[in-house]
Amino acid sequence: MSGNTIMNYLIHTKENTANARFQGEITVPGDKSISHRSIMFGSLANGKTEVEGFLEGEDSLATLKAFVKMGVNITGPENGKLTIEGVGMEGLEAPDSPLDLGNSGTSMRLMSGLLSGQRFKTILIGDTSLSGRPMKRVTKPLAQMGANIDTDNGTAPLKIMANTGLSGIRYDMPIASAQVKSCLLLAGMYARGKTCVTEPGITRDHTERMLNAFGYPLEINGNTVCIEGGHELIACRIQIPADISSAAFFLVGASITPGANLLVKNVGINPTRTGVIDILELMGADLTLENKRMFGGEPVADIRVKYSQLNGIDIPEALVPLAIDEFPVLFVAAACAQGQTVLTGAEELRVKESDRIQAMADGLVELGIDAQPTSDGIVIQGGKINGGKVKSFDDHRIAMAFTIAGLRSSGVIEIEDCENVATSFPGFVDLVNSVGLVVETSIVECP
Ligand code: S3P
Repeated sequence: MSGNTIMNYLIHTKENTANARFQGEITVPGDKSISHRSIMFGSLANGKTEVEGFLEGEDSLATLKAFVKMGVNITGPENGKLTIEGVGMEGLEAPDSPLDLGNSGTSMRLMSGLLSGQRFKTILIGDTSLSGRPMKRVTKPLAQMGANIDTDNGTAPLKIMANTGLSGIRYDMPIASAQVKSCLLLAGMYARGKTCVTEPGITRDHTERMLNAFGYPLEINGNTVCIEGGHELIACRIQIPADISSAAFFLVGASITPGANLLVKNVGINPTRTGVIDILELMGADLTLENKRMFGGEPVADIRVKYSQLNGIDIPEALVPLAIDEFPVLFVAAACAQGQTVLTGAEELRVKESDRIQAMADGLVELGIDAQPTSDGIVIQGGKINGGKVKSFDDHRIAMAFTIAGLRSSGVIEIEDCENVATSFPGFVDLVNSVGLVVETSIVECP
């Protein structure tokens, strides 16, 4: 939000129904998780790291600016390309003011681990949403390693004191979280001995893949990953695929749009991220993975998606961590499906950029859909989507999910407070308009 204005989206349904939509080929921006990690590891490496496909969204740019503030020379990004002059494991410099990580939970949680290993103090701050998100999940195990971090009752600002000696621990994560796992692996690079993290369910493994690409030794045994302190990172070339979390809006959009036939190109299909594909297929979606290949150490494919009548399902709980960011738009798919969709085991959705269970339930009900939130999920009956005014709760993925709902609504949908779409998906409105939705942005004075 800037000053006392907000940006709203208006999805114009009449024009929509007149157009042929979701045809042709598109490319969505680079993967957010990998973009963050490319800056962190590139900065700590010895030598120059070249990155391609970097997400020029506010979240990954917040990470980039934080490392520039700690003395790292980064050229770009320009058209997704950047060059990082790595300073080595001990080469970061104390920033002269708090590091502002905006809306980005990934930046704050991963950097809390990395910064616990530095010989200087740092303060991490964020926007209102980030300042309300739980940080004890990282500060508690970091304290066990010997880090000294002050929080505001478990939330940001985080004051991370200079490292006086970290020791490796064995940690059984109580929640399936790639952010917690990655935070501890980053701290583990600075600890004496070995740090081993066991996850209760599979979470994204971009940190492990990137450590591998930078030549840092790692042991992986089943659900446990161990790292030893004291090794080095060697600069390399990172190619970042398109973000499956951004592609998800188009996968659902085409699935619910009669006549659609869309190719989403160069999408990362790391098996720790493809829950959205599995869930849509269980619902009866028509998805084909074409041209599967490896790209910068990550599997990618072009995903063809055609319209198909979707059916409600009970979402298998094992798929929850593999689709954790895609549920807002999957709830829109459920609203367009025949029958009931039930999600359980997803209480983590309540502590994302917004409480995504409540935010989606409120908006779907406003649009005429029967959506019942539960403590750890939601029950949605497929139905007819009406027009209406919904809140994004300042959450990029809620704003984009309701934009996609506009493909099937009988009236205009207005979505309040959509500025944060820029955190993960710059160019979303232009891209969605280019395949036939009519989304208008308007700047509105706050009362
Ligand atoms: C992320 C991990 C996920 C995800 C977030 C990005 C990452 O969070 O929701 O958007 O890059 O590691 P959790 O690991 O907390 O589930």
